[in-house]
Amino acid sequence: MHTKQKNTSINIRTFKTDDLEAIAKLDQQAFHIDCYPSFFFRQAFDVFGELFKVAENSENKIVGYILGALQANQTDAWILSVIVDENSRRQRIAEQLINTVLDIFQHQQITQVLLTVDPPNVGAQTLYQKLGFVEFYRDANYFGNHEERIVMKKTLKNQAT
Ligand SMILES: CC(C)(COP(=O)(O)OP(=O)(O)OC[C@H]1O[C@@H](n2cnc3c(N)ncnc32)[C@H](O)[C@@H]1OP(=O)(O)O)[C@@H](O)C(=O)NCCC(=O)NCCS
Repeated sequence: MHTKQKNTSINIRTFKTDDLEAIAKLDQQAFHIDCYPSFFFRQAFDVFGELFKVAENSENKIVGYILGALQANQTDAWILSVIVDENSRRQRIAEQLINTVLDIFQHQQITQVLLTVDPPNVGAQTLYQKLGFVEFYRDANYFGNHEERIVMKKTLKNQAT
């Protein structure tokens, strides 16, 4: 997939192991001590495969990633993480990444996509709302440390007729 948005040429492709360092760095810059350990991304690729996408700019620099996951019930899926480099934001890169993964979910007959977001992260909530996600419920103790999380969901048109 190759798209042009707001003068930025972005290529979205599946993660490869050479991307590990760049992805871990993006995650660390965005989430600091709450970031994933880098080996998690290696495991995530083994488990989630094509649901692990990266966005590269015209200089082949990785400027974002998304990690999607299928739930064992085979009807629900999750967006576990989406991050865009702080120097590349507001160029619809996250929107492209999310739509790419939503397309895959659609083809896999998923009916409901879920994600969690920090209540103060209004920018991310605005992004998700723009893409059709709505607040589903709040979990007061999501990480076991009394930090509230909003769970948002989007219904896909895959219900049996
Ligand atoms: C949230 C994040 C992924 C958005 O990435 P992005 O590439 O800048 O988002 P996009 O350009 O695709 O945004 C698309 C739309 O979402 C909304 N949006 C995105 N970021 C926003 C912000 N900070 N404030 C308000 N609206 C925002 C806007 O409607 C935007 O369209 P517009 O620019 O035409 O107004 C990015 O800010 C980021 O990586 N943040 C740190 C990590 C994080 O919070 N991830 C989400 C965890 S739940």
